[in-house]
Parts: sequence; structure tokens; C-alpha cells
Amino acid sequence: VKSPFKNAAVLSDSYSEASELADIEWDNLGFGLLPTDYMYMMKCSQGGNFSKGELQRFGNIELNPSAGVLNYGQGLFEGLKAYRKEDGNILLFRPEENALRMRQGAERMCMSAPTVDQFVEAVKETVLANKRWVPPPGKGSLYIRPLLMGSGAVLGLAPAPEYTFLIYVSPVGNYFKEGVAPINLIVEHELHRATPGGTGGVKTIGNYAAVLKAQSAAKAKGYSDVLYLDCVHKKYLEEVSSCNIFVVKGNVISTPAIKGTILPGITRKSIIDVARSQGFQVEERFVPVDELLDADEVFCTGTAVVVSPVGSITYKGKRVPYGVDGFGAVAQQLYSVLTRLQMGLIDDKMNWTVEL
Ligand code: COI
Repeated sequence: VKSPFKNAAVLSDSYSEASELADIEWDNLGFGLLPTDYMYMMKCSQGGNFSKGELQRFGNIELNPSAGVLNYGQGLFEGLKAYRKEDGNILLFRPEENALRMRQGAERMCMSAPTVDQFVEAVKETVLANKRWVPPPGKGSLYIRPLLMGSGAVLGLAPAPEYTFLIYVSPVGNYFKEGVAPINLIVEHELHRATPGGTGGVKTIGNYAAVLKAQSAAKAKGYSDVLYLDCVHKKYLEEVSSCNIFVVKGNVISTPAIKGTILPGITRKSIIDVARSQGFQVEERFVPVDELLDADEVFCTGTAVVVSPVGSITYKGKRVPYGVDGFGAVAQQLYSVLTRLQMGLIDDKMNWTVEL
């Protein structure tokens, strides 16, 4: 049998393993780490080029205690998904967008980054090596987590002398414990996620540590997550801890404009295009928090959350409910078109999917 892997020598024992389905309970996958077979690693010195990436067995990695990522948070991550089609082939969704976003983040964080081709090739190799972990159609997806970190030792504050690009994967189902049921959000008006001129617009690891305090407090009160406001006026919507937000009123769908403090989500961008193709008017602008009061529907988008309907938002003690139960009609329509496209169930006129 011809191996599909570039690094066939490393993977001499793996092809038969990768060609079957892993022996796990595929129903009711949540969003937690399931260790898989292989991860991808590639290194580069500061200012140099990445080369000689390779797959290795999934497991712990070694880092110098003085690594830039551990001491000064010089790290970025990405998230994308692979779906198994009915014919057994696998579809990736817009991987080059993740590669480009990682490169933009690396520029902001003074890090070396893989090229778009290196990134996409590495994602393909990692998914194929872990093929048996891609859930059967309709059961979920394989979440792909590329990391870029300052792995070289540095004591005085400076860019690390070495960078590591790593990809690991895990089969996942729904992100929120609510499943596809609507989530309940609370608007946070004291703590902020991002500041103008800061790093809110790139996928650096520190942005996610920064939201844990507000998120934990919200969860302790029974909310699913937190919706952040801009830190200057404390008035305009920004995003939820792990996803972007959309507000629906009639035929108009509004979402906060990308202006440096909001993560430019790939699902966000795709939903904007899908909504326009479905005849909706989409506005990217400043969205005042007051607009939540008379919205018809609110929903969130992200790679992990896909499209999640919002059932209620609480702001300064007032709870605003949306809809009766389940998805609102607009969120349902957009979710359905996007996911059918991602799973290869409808024609990909946008040319967004990459088949393996
Ligand atoms: C994703 O949606 O892929 C993300 O990176 C968000 C993360 C907090 C799960």
C-alpha cells in the first residue's frame, strides 16, 4: 500500500491504523481533548525560515523554563475543523485563512511564522495521519489546533531566539454544554477583553487567559459565557470570550466591525458572505449595546461554536430573552447552509473547502 504521508519513514507503523475508525463512543462528543495519534512539529530560529517539519507521536513536549512563550506569553494559536464526508473523504474548511491569520498575528507578536503553503501542507499531513479520529458523518468534526510559540530561552524581555510550530488534533462535538440549544450571555461592563492598540485583533494566547476571570464568574452564576463591551465608551459590542456576535433585526444582520480589538473570525467572515448570498443585508459597524433590547435574534459564530443561537442576554440586571426555544429562523438558515457546505452536502460555489 502506498503511504499518503510525506514522512512515510516516521510513520511506518501508522497507515493501517490511520485507515480505520478509532474505537471510541462517537455519539455525544463534547469539546474536550481526546489524545490522538500524531502531532506535527517544525522549528525555526528568530529571523530564519521554518523547515524540516515532521509528524511525531502525540505527547508532551519539552520546553526550556526560560522559553519566550512561558515567560512573556509570546504565543499564538489557530483553530479549524475537518469533516468526514459520506464517501469517506475528508474536507478542510478555508485552511489558508488560518495560515494568513497566523502570519498577521506573528507580525504583531514579533514571531517567525510558517508560510501559507507550509501551514496548509502541515495541516493536511496531520489530519491524514490522524484520519481514524475524524468522526463519522453527522457525529462531529476533527478540531485542528495549530500553535506558534516562542520556544527559545530568553530572560530579558525580547523576542525569543527560536520558534516552534506545532499542530495537534482532537475529535469534537458541540462547544457549549447546551449543545445546539440557545446559550445565555451576560454583558460584562467592568472587565475588558481588548484595548485599542493592543492585541485583541490577533489570536494570541494571552487574550484567552484574560477572559477567564469574567467567564468563570458568569458560569458560577449560571450563564454560558460573557459578552464584552468596548473599553473606551463601554457602549459598543465587541465579542464573546470564544466567538463573534451577530444581531438580527428584520432583514438586517449587524456585527461589530473589525477595528483591532475584535478577532477577525473565519466563521464570522464566512457567515457574512453566506448571509449576503441568502439575501440578507449585513452591516459591519459599531453596534450599541442598546440594540440588544429590540433585536429579533442574536447568535454567535466561531470555529469551535459554529453558529450558536443566543437565548437571552443579561445587561445591568435586565434579562432580554430571544425567541421561544431553539434556533431563531435566521441563525438556523445560516447554520444550515454553512454546515452543509463544510460537510460537503451542498455544492461549494465559494471554493472554501479543501478535499483530502
Ligand atoms: C475556535 O473557535 O477555534 C477558537 O479558537 C476559540 C477557542 C476558545 C475554542
